[in-house]
Amino acid sequence: MSFPSVRLRRLRRTEALRSMFSQVNIQPSNLIYPIFIDESITKPVPIASMPGYFRYPINQVADEGKLALEQGVKSVLLFGIPAKKDEAGSGAYAKNGVVQKATSKLKAQFGDNLVVVGDVCLCEYMSHGHCGIIKEGEVLNDDTLDLLGKTAVSQAEAGVDIVAPSAMMDGQVLAIREALDDEGFDQIPIMAYSAKYASGFYGPFREAAESTPKFGNRRSYQMSQGNPQEALREIELDINEGADIIMVKPALAYLDIIGLAKANFNVPIVGYNVSGEYSMVKAAAQNGWIDEKTIVTEILTGIKRAGADLIIPYHARDVKSWLTPT
Ligand code: PBG
Repeated sequence: MSFPSVRLRRLRRTEALRSMFSQVNIQPSNLIYPIFIDESITKPVPIASMPGYFRYPINQVADEGKLALEQGVKSVLLFGIPAKKDEAGSGAYAKNGVVQKATSKLKAQFGDNLVVVGDVCLCEYMSHGHCGIIKEGEVLNDDTLDLLGKTAVSQAEAGVDIVAPSAMMDGQVLAIREALDDEGFDQIPIMAYSAKYASGFYGPFREAAESTPKFGNRRSYQMSQGNPQEALREIELDINEGADIIMVKPALAYLDIIGLAKANFNVPIVGYNVSGEYSMVKAAAQNGWIDEKTIVTEILTGIKRAGADLIIPYHARDVKSWLTPT
């Protein structure tokens, strides 16, 4: 059968029919809200390249947790900006580090109602801005693993529910799993930034987190944009090392990688709708060139349709009222 007896428009006639047959829908509970916490400030500081986004002092992080829950978002992802950076990234695994303190505050206030995810990386804590220990201009893989393990353990001690390693060191998931298990944290899942591409889309984040490398770039550890097969290998290795959840990042320019991950693996997949993707939408919206709500809904639906079970979008803070089809 074909036209005129077949008419696909029959199921699109009214809003009720459209929503009845909608296959992919965004739930606020599938979103993770990223928060920047700055140890050195006493009131929120706007991030110039991310309109509407702020760095918050530690004593205001609970307000952001509340905001997330009001949106129906159950989870936050914490990034810390320490007062001091050094060559060992010691702020990342300090007992009273910025993420550790913010986590304690969130857990004291919200308990199990809010899932706190800790970003496990060193770049925000290193004076040189790279994600690992540097010797003679090189980022040392194996020496860095120990510090990533320590960071994950100290975040777990502070109460994080999930650790999310983003440093792109080989073997980091195994090192973190072993470090957590040794300290009795065998219940803490690992959300691995498995397929993390070296990307220009991280620019605004690096302004927000003050983590731009002082020399060189991250191309020797983050992935090259043209490689889909390598993403499958990265993901497979991370799953074998014990990753509970895997991530593809950035999401929008890498939707095919999310689709490949979905087709090949049976673990929850996260798509990170990164800072540059947020800033592009904001800039165009501020110029009146696009309708922000329509575009954000479409972007999130696209990331989910590609295969992401969860999404990390900077729009998580204001998305709930938008998630109605237009
Ligand atoms: C830390 C980290 C980065 C992002 C998340 N974790 C920056 C980077 O790798 O340079 C980027 C997130 C974003 O752009 O929204 N390594």
